[in-house]
Amino acid sequence: MEVIQKISRLKSLSKKIKSLNKTIAFVPTMGALHEGHLNLVDIARKIGDVVIVSIFVNPIQFGPNEDFEKYPRNLSKDVELLTKRGVDYIFTPEVNEFYGENFQTYVEVKEITKYLCGASRPGHFRGVTTVVSKLFSILKPDFAIFGQKDGQQVVVIKKMVKDLLFPLKIIVSPIIRENDGLAMSSRNSYLSKEERELAVNLYKGLELGSSLILNGERNSSKVSEAIKNFLNEKNGIKIDYIEIVDKKTLKPIENIKDEIMIAGAIYVGKTRLIDNISLYVS
Ligand code: PAJ
Repeated sequence: MEVIQKISRLKSLSKKIKSLNKTIAFVPTMGALHEGHLNLVDIARKIGDVVIVSIFVNPIQFGPNEDFEKYPRNLSKDVELLTKRGVDYIFTPEVNEFYGENFQTYVEVKEITKYLCGASRPGHFRGVTTVVSKLFSILKPDFAIFGQKDGQQVVVIKKMVKDLLFPLKIIVSPIIRENDGLAMSSRNSYLSKEERELAVNLYKGLELGSSLILNGERNSSKVSEAIKNFLNEKNGIKIDYIEIVDKKTLKPIENIKDEIMIAGAIYVGKTRLIDNISLYVS
């Protein structure tokens, strides 16, 4: 296992791996790793000859009033966890080298970034697609593994890969949860004990919506209202959005059918948490 900081080192390494006819499976992360990330790594280990994980808290995907500065960083623990999981290389570039002087080129997926998290975090997905496309062009992976936890991110990245013809395959891992159902997230470390207890209600609310649909409800407003009412009863939770959308286009739907996603974002205190449940409704 080698920890690499320099872009030039990773570029030449990728060239060498390809010359040996080996495949690269890539897991992009912002570190502060948990089992959700490590599950992506396990998938990468199964499908690629060489596994590369990037750890980079990407400044350009955070808004001016968001948590870039205080985002949890723990490289030595991350390296230990990834070593145990059999990762071959960890790429942790420095912000200054990564974006260089006078950086001014961005990759933007227009339409599907207007909904859900894109509506409340303007510029966020532009930051994500820019960093991911730059990482792809440095590493040239054959596979890149993303988590369904960030459901909109998956759709946005797939669209970018399709539109820009990146020669790689996107693999999606299911959401890994704590025992009570809370989706694992690096941001869960911000939560106090009381907030942690409240946080699970996002998943409970989405589950409530899911069971209404499974019991026959097909009107999306009724389902989202029921989830919102459930969450509004909890003191200390502020809803950002609760929406039922078409899983492929991310457009809000009125009649629930085919592949849908019940997606939600809430604030518990100052911490913003997201989660989603996918359903196929015939
Ligand atoms: P980060 O939040 O660190 O997440 C890295 C990857 O881990 C993402 O694909 C995310 O969906 C996945 N992941 C996080 N928690 C998960 C969980 N509980 N279950 C399954 N997968 C989970 O997402 C980012 O970083 C960044 O936007 C990035 C793509 C690295 C670009 O900067």
